[in-house]
Amino acid sequence: MSGTQYIASDDSVLLRKALRSYAGGSALEIGAGNGGNLVDLCGTFDLVVGTELVKPEMGDWTAEGANLVLADSASCLRDSVFDLVAFNPPYLRGIVEDRAVDAGVDLEVPKKFLRDAIRVVKPGGRIVFLLDQDADIDEFQSICKPRGFRVRRIASARLFYEELSVYAAEQAQRPRVGQGRLQPKMLGEAEKAGRFPRMRIVIPH
Ligand SMILES: C[S@@+](CC[C@H](N)C(=O)[O-])C[C@H]1O[C@@H](n2cnc3c(N)ncnc32)[C@H](O)[C@@H]1O
Repeated sequence: MSGTQYIASDDSVLLRKALRSYAGGSALEIGAGNGGNLVDLCGTFDLVVGTELVKPEMGDWTAEGANLVLADSASCLRDSVFDLVAFNPPYLRGIVEDRAVDAGVDLEVPKKFLRDAIRVVKPGGRIVFLLDQDADIDEFQSICKPRGFRVRRIASARLFYEELSVYAAEQAQRPRVGQGRLQPKMLGEAEKAGRFPRMRIVIPH
C-alpha cells in the first residue's frame, strides 16, 4: 500500500466552492492533500487545521496561517473542537493500493473519516464531505443518525467519467434550555381569563 501526493482536481474544486458558504471559528479538513482547501478556509475561519498521511509538496497553506498535522484521519484530535469538519476522501471503491484515491471495497476510508468527523465536530457544528455516484448515501446517513445529524446534498457535478456530490451533515436545531414556550394548555382557567393583571401571559400564535 502506498500514498501518493494528490494533485487537486475537479473534486477538490467542487468541495472548495461548497465550503465558501461556511465561516466561523475553527475548521478541520481531514486528508488535506496539498493544502489548497486549507488556503481557502483561512479566508473564512479563525483557526484552520488539516490532517494528511503524505507530507504536502506545496507550502502556500503555511503562508496563510493554516496548521497541518501528519496523522491518520482525525485520530490525533480531541472530541468536539471544530465548528466545521470537511473532507474529500479517497472515494474510489476497491482494494486500497494507493491511499490517495482508493476507498476500500466497502468505502471503509470515507466511513472512517465520517466517524472521526462526527467525533471532533462541536455540538451544532457542520460536516461537509464529497462522495461519488458509487456511494450509497443511506449508509452514510445511518452513521450520522445516532448523533442527530441529517445529511443533505448541497452541490453536485457530472463529469464524463463520474458524478460527484457534496453533502452537508447538520444536527437538527433543538430549542435551547430555558427557551421553551408556555403553551395555552398549561394554563389554569384563572390565568387564561387574565385574573392576575400584573402577570403578563404571552400566548404563542
Ligand atoms: C482525494 S484526496 C483529496 C485531497 C484534498 N483534500 C483535495 O481536496 O484536493 C484524499 C486525501 O486523503 C489522504 N488520506 C487518505 N487516507 C488518509 C488517512 N487515513 N488519514 C489522513 N489522510 C488520508 C490522501 O493522502 C489524499 O491526500
